[in-house]
Amino acid sequence: MNNTITVLGAGYVGLTTAALLAHAGYKVYAIEPNKKRLDVIKTGKSFFFEEGLDPVIKQAIDSGNLIATDSYEESVPHSSIVFSCVGTPDNPDGSSNLTYVFSAAEQAASLMQEGAIYVQKSTVPVRTGERIIELFESLGKHFPYVSNPEFLREGTALYDTLFFDRVVVGGSDKKAVTTILDTYRDLEAARDTIAALADVQSVPRNGKYIATSLNSAELIKVSANAFLALKISFANSIAKLADKVDADVVEVMDAVGADERIGRAFLNAGRGYGGGCFPKDVSGLISSGLENGIDLEVMQAAQALNRSMPGYVVEKLKNNIGELGDKKVAVLGLAFKSGTSDVRKSPGVAIANVLSHAGVQTIAHDPQANEEAKEDLRRDVVLSNNILQAVQGVDAIIIATEWPEFTSLDLIECKKQMKGTVLLDAVNIIEKASAESAGLQYIGVGR
Ligand code: UGA
Repeated sequence: MNNTITVLGAGYVGLTTAALLAHAGYKVYAIEPNKKRLDVIKTGKSFFFEEGLDPVIKQAIDSGNLIATDSYEESVPHSSIVFSCVGTPDNPDGSSNLTYVFSAAEQAASLMQEGAIYVQKSTVPVRTGERIIELFESLGKHFPYVSNPEFLREGTALYDTLFFDRVVVGGSDKKAVTTILDTYRDLEAARDTIAALADVQSVPRNGKYIATSLNSAELIKVSANAFLALKISFANSIAKLADKVDADVVEVMDAVGADERIGRAFLNAGRGYGGGCFPKDVSGLISSGLENGIDLEVMQAAQALNRSMPGYVVEKLKNNIGELGDKKVAVLGLAFKSGTSDVRKSPGVAIANVLSHAGVQTIAHDPQANEEAKEDLRRDVVLSNNILQAVQGVDAIIIATEWPEFTSLDLIECKKQMKGTVLLDAVNIIEKASAESAGLQYIGVGR
């Protein structure tokens, strides 16, 4: 076994994994087929915004331990471990599109050295591993195959990977499972140095190393995401009730979440979840269930509730400012959450599009995601690079992402720029009292 690794796909997961392993004593090839992205990585930077990642990439590229390439031939034959981190978009019917997963496996298999381990990090439906092993066998190859699901969050990718709750590796080849768990032990040994370089807080933590069967590992990943999505949809359904009965969902969830058996995390009500993971993983899990004759009704309900949230937010606005057709509204926040420029399935984008579709003159602003949102926004949504400019002359502001810039918004100055007085806080981050003392009418979700 040499210490060379290839990472197929240099997106959020692949690039982070590759850069970190390059600091843990490995020589790592990161394969990125997109030329524009590849050129950025070669300069020692990431092509997306992720706190702390750039210095980690820069030093790894400069040291020669991280090599960015678009060539399987240059990297795969020399590697004892191949991580697959390619994208798994969803099909129109909600199932996972595994085209990249299978083509990456097939290409790599033709070049891998005997005994090299194939590690699946892309989120795939349960039983995909079995199908890839069959593919290898049909090619006359017998590589150890393990599933190593990823649990990092965008925006806190480095922290989550270095100070993990658990590393899960599943497969039938026990030696391969141990080797991959050991790779993470090497990363753990280097983590304080990496954290200092990335300026990420170092916390003493004993994450769990968990070895499982292949199918369990695959199911662990989607179940974890589905459960978190379920918590959010639960909080949002209680928020709808709180709106009717004049209760405050933040107070409710603070107290409900204080029960250690429940926990406060992922009970923040608002405009619903988005991103490249939850929507896709929930629909993927529902599809897996149906394929196996299991109706995951609880997840169907969570999904339907989530899909209703952008419309619910706009309906709340309408109830307060009347017919929307002749109104002007600013949407602050297009990223699917703060700390990232990612706009995939973003509720902020959905809200802006619902407004614009209803004839509202819509101005949108995001501190990081304006550029990325352009493609997904309706053509008549106007993008603004400045908060105060965005809110000029508007009847209402909707806050759709919990960026610190919006939490600490100068409400008095905003009010001066606006025509109307409505502040619809769709992420429940503003204190009602401070909005009201600035002369604004505060509307939250479930408050
Ligand atoms: C999620 C999981 O949290 C990670 O553990 C997992 O590795 C990742 O998916 C993945 O599968 O790759 P991520 O999508 O980056 O991470 O973002 P989260 O922080 O989980 O937020 C997802 C969405 O839920 C965001 O739109 C966020 O605003 C929303 N959310 C989150 C709420 O509406 N309320 C909450 O209380 C928490």
